[in-house]
Amino acid sequence: MAATATEERVGTAPARMEVEDGVAVIRLNQPGKPVNVINAELLQALDGILARLEKGEGGARAVVIVSEKKGTWIAGADIEQFKDFRTPADGEAASRAGHALLGRLERLPIPVVAAIDGVALGGGLEVALACGYRVASDSPKTKLGLPEVQLGILPGAGGTQRLPRLIGVRGALDLMLTGKQLDGRRARAAGIVDEVVPAPVLLPIAKRIALEIADGTRAPRTASKTGSPENVERLPGMLSVIFRKAREGVLAKTHGLYPAPLRILQVVHDGLGKPLDEALKIEAKAFGELAVTPEARSLLHLFFVTTAAKNDAALPEGTKPRKVEEVAVVGAGFMGAGIAAVSAEAGIEVRLKDVKLEAAAKGLKTARDTLVKRARRKKARRFEVTALIDRVQATTEYAGFRQADVVVEAVFEDVKVKHAVIKEIEAAIGPDTVLGSNTSTIPIATLAEAAARPENVIGLHFFSPVDKMPLLEIIVHDRTASWVTATSHAYGKQIGKTPIVVNDSPGFYANRILSPYMAEAALLLEEGARMDEIDRAMTDWGYPVGPITLYDEVGLDVAQKAGKIMAAAFADRMKPSTVVDRLVADGRSGRKNGKGFYAYDAEGKRTGPDESVYALIGSPPARAHDRAEIQDRLGLMMVNEAVRTLEEGVLRSARDGDVGAVLGIGFPPFRGGPFWYVDQVGAQNVLNRLRALEARFGARFAPAKLLEEKARTGGKFSDDAA
Ligand code: 3HC
Repeated sequence: MAATATEERVGTAPARMEVEDGVAVIRLNQPGKPVNVINAELLQALDGILARLEKGEGGARAVVIVSEKKGTWIAGADIEQFKDFRTPADGEAASRAGHALLGRLERLPIPVVAAIDGVALGGGLEVALACGYRVASDSPKTKLGLPEVQLGILPGAGGTQRLPRLIGVRGALDLMLTGKQLDGRRARAAGIVDEVVPAPVLLPIAKRIALEIADGTRAPRTASKTGSPENVERLPGMLSVIFRKAREGVLAKTHGLYPAPLRILQVVHDGLGKPLDEALKIEAKAFGELAVTPEARSLLHLFFVTTAAKNDAALPEGTKPRKVEEVAVVGAGFMGAGIAAVSAEAGIEVRLKDVKLEAAAKGLKTARDTLVKRARRKKARRFEVTALIDRVQATTEYAGFRQADVVVEAVFEDVKVKHAVIKEIEAAIGPDTVLGSNTSTIPIATLAEAAARPENVIGLHFFSPVDKMPLLEIIVHDRTASWVTATSHAYGKQIGKTPIVVNDSPGFYANRILSPYMAEAALLLEEGARMDEIDRAMTDWGYPVGPITLYDEVGLDVAQKAGKIMAAAFADRMKPSTVVDRLVADGRSGRKNGKGFYAYDAEGKRTGPDESVYALIGSPPARAHDRAEIQDRLGLMMVNEAVRTLEEGVLRSARDGDVGAVLGIGFPPFRGGPFWYVDQVGAQNVLNRLRALEARFGARFAPAKLLEEKARTGGKFSDDAA
């Protein structure tokens, strides 16, 4: 049912319309929702509004669509509703309903202007594309994009057809295949938005423009009717080159494991040059088919668990985070500089301390370089960049630490060194400062032994490179105060990370599950598997890089150290092989010194597996290992260990386990995380495969008790698992 006049008057309608000075202003504001989303209620309300406009109500000469929801214009289709799609026909019908509505909007005899302040994503941007003109605010909250590919689907409300017709195929594919989001200025440069104005004057300017278009003094900007509007793309053969290159790029990036980007290419290709309505049918069919693929289901699951982890630290009712305005980082190495940079980028004042001035200055330079690089990518203005880099100050003193809301120590991974530093920090801060340690393996309770206020001590495990990796693993020990956890969680969100809170244990969660996986890869090498064979098997399974490459990237010395700590704690299944020791003894640190499992040229570019490694480890390639065997040994090693961490209470939920594995260590997103993976293939299936491995290779593959229980009871780890 359409929103009634009463609903509009009392403000419970998701959209309402008033005609003001000849302009029909449609105001979006979904009651009770944090963001505006396209769902049945909004569609119904818009249907009613369109019917009134089609009848010429109020003598409106133009229309402006604006949002009253702070920070959002429209965040896209309601992702919740995708869970109800059972067959491809369900998604196709939903897409066609959207097409019908937007078609009516597009065909209104009066001009429609989208006045965008806040996010216009997915279906939100698709609404704007059906308008005749787009004005965006210059607010940093304004973001335009088509992120559907990240959910394993494609834009299903006309985006695959209207965007290429508006800005050209190349630009449109770039947006659709990456899901990247552009602020107002970049959206204007890309041709999506026509004007960018300050937020407070957005509505009056949009109204004026709408009337100018109605009067014929300004031209509307709608999608081309005949294909790409870009002249260069009309040259013979040009489009086939663009599509071929895009396809090559997709295959190189995804190994063909993700159906959505390939389908986007096909749908854009097939729809181009066809009448819009015919092209939209192609889009709807593909949308419906993609929406029910296992890949889309897994990526959808990831959206929900990631959002839930961001919004719920599972703390006692009423626990309040403290405001974080100043942060101090001790240790100006690569990690410390990264933490400083992401904090400054979030508007936090940062002190970066090291013992020696040269080290502090080097860290400052690294942090500033990162900030400048990221700001340039966002096309920030010079004064904005200056303000940004000025937020980080280098120091060799603890002076000023008392004002810090959070201090992060990122010094050398050694208990004695960290104990000494924690004592120094404590002497310089007050009781209201969070004392975080960026350790990757040392138990937080051990570190807190040196503290007079252990309740302020918490683990803040960042991943490298800090500015790119989206996870923050927060580790609480028995005595960590809940306000400290709440503040750390809020700080994580403030700096754009997805935080998960885990309990203290060697390796915490991420490194705990990575460790046996890496150890197994080394054992495979000892058995005579080839380095590139192992790596390829795992990238084919969906990891961004294989484990042998990861050894080189992390640094063999670092991996050796972590391996020993983990082996001491879990000797039965994480006994490190001698392979890493032998490489380290041979002076190989991996990429950082140009010598590892792989060989590197003088410029540091990797040239291929270093064949001399086989002699060094005394295991020449012996037998060709079956790809599935490698994948099972490594993949299930990690999955089984993840289940153990839940069983032991290191993880508070399977949800956090899926988030941590995907965002922290690259577990294939389209598999949804280790717990979702078990739910999908079945606990009994995983159990059988682990038992078979246990029979062949020994007790390190013994299945976790909780896995046996799930297999016995048929229970699932994830609430949303079918
Ligand atoms: N559908 C349903 N719920 C949504 C949603 C959507 N499209 N977008 C956001 N939400 C919900 C979140 O689940 C969260 O719910 P909760 O409070 O109950 O946990 C709430 O809104 C707030 O979201 P965040 O915590 O993520 O808030 P942020 O301010 O950090 O981010 C956001 C806001 C940028 C809008 C972010 O939520 C986001 O990226 N959302 C997804 C956008 C997206 O992918 N849109 C495309 C959807 S698919 C589509 O449109 C198909 C079309 O082509 C047919």
